[in-house]
Amino acid sequence: SRGCKLIGSGSAIPALQVSNDDLAKIVDTNDEWITVRTGIRNRRVLSGKDSLTNLASEAARKALEMAQVDANDVDMVLMCTSTPEDLFGSAPQISKALGCKKNPLSYDITAACSGFVLGLVSAACHIRGGGFNNILVIGADSLSRYVDWTDRGTCILFGDAAGAVVVQSCDAEEDGLFAFDLHSDGDGQRHLKAAIKEDEVDKALGHNGSIRDFPPRRSSYSCIQMNGKEVFRFACRSVPQSIESALGKAGLNGSNIDWLLLHQANQRIIDAVATRLEVPQERIISNLANYGNTSAASIPLALDEAVRSGNVKPGHVIATAGFGAGLTWGSAIIRW
Ligand code: ACO
Repeated sequence: SRGCKLIGSGSAIPALQVSNDDLAKIVDTNDEWITVRTGIRNRRVLSGKDSLTNLASEAARKALEMAQVDANDVDMVLMCTSTPEDLFGSAPQISKALGCKKNPLSYDITAACSGFVLGLVSAACHIRGGGFNNILVIGADSLSRYVDWTDRGTCILFGDAAGAVVVQSCDAEEDGLFAFDLHSDGDGQRHLKAAIKEDEVDKALGHNGSIRDFPPRRSSYSCIQMNGKEVFRFACRSVPQSIESALGKAGLNGSNIDWLLLHQANQRIIDAVATRLEVPQERIISNLANYGNTSAASIPLALDEAVRSGNVKPGHVIATAGFGAGLTWGSAIIRW
């Protein structure tokens, strides 16, 4: 039987940096509040002519370079994003930008901050059961485009970024994805959403589905709406359970892992989960002070920095978990 392994990582961030002090100029907040409650100090924001597709392509290019895989040998591109620049999906644009000449299967995966973990697991399934050999898994989001910049409860949290890994087929003995655990709870959507806008005009006119209501108006999405306390509680409850479940399937426990790499949403969530799993501080990967919550990008961005700095070394076992809107959450136990 076939296994799969992670053989390269890359990341990319927008040039524009926005500090807590910069935010204090547009909403009633301050550096101390944000730092103490979240651990975030800076975030990057797409601006001007920047595009998320370009950022994702840059991250993917760097991952291919590290993996020493030619773009023409990529047989699948998975773009994990909730903020595509084309509603129909952006992955084919990334394949094009990378110069993948064989028209590889390329599609988007939408699962908010859990997107990258879901992408990793999907890649493993395609390799094990579908005969694919080199899959690019990209996590990229630009939540800044959906943030209400007058809402201090949410606008301080998010940033834009892209990260990518190359997942390659290998012998079963070398397999680098030991176990996973994935979930969703649609009931919790009320706590965190950026839903399609109900058309106020249609509502006011009492439109009810007759031919007189045709044609429909163009839709748009509302800004991110969040109940921070509920999301915080959900994460602290669900993430340790999910990681314990995945570790159990792999026959491991918290003391067997070299690194805990959680979706970078809030330092207090990361610390609470680590405490629950009895993972010591020095085995936590965290870079959210610099980037805030970058949604599907946060895990591959933090992984790439940890790999390039030499902290994560070949053979290291990493427990990773994503959680967020949907609600969705999930974890994977991987070997670098
Ligand atoms: N600056 C200053 N004061 C603020 C700010 C701010 N930016 N935001 C809120 N406050 C005030 C509130 O108004 C409140 O004031 P009050 O006591 O007078 O009413 C007080 O600070 C406390 O507010 P809380 O919302 O209770 O603060 P809390 O400790 O819960 O922290 C936070 C809020 C940081 C949002 C936290 O709940 C959190 O991180 N939750 C998780 C959110 C998250 O990770 N979401 C992303 C999920 S990933 C995805 O899929 C998108």
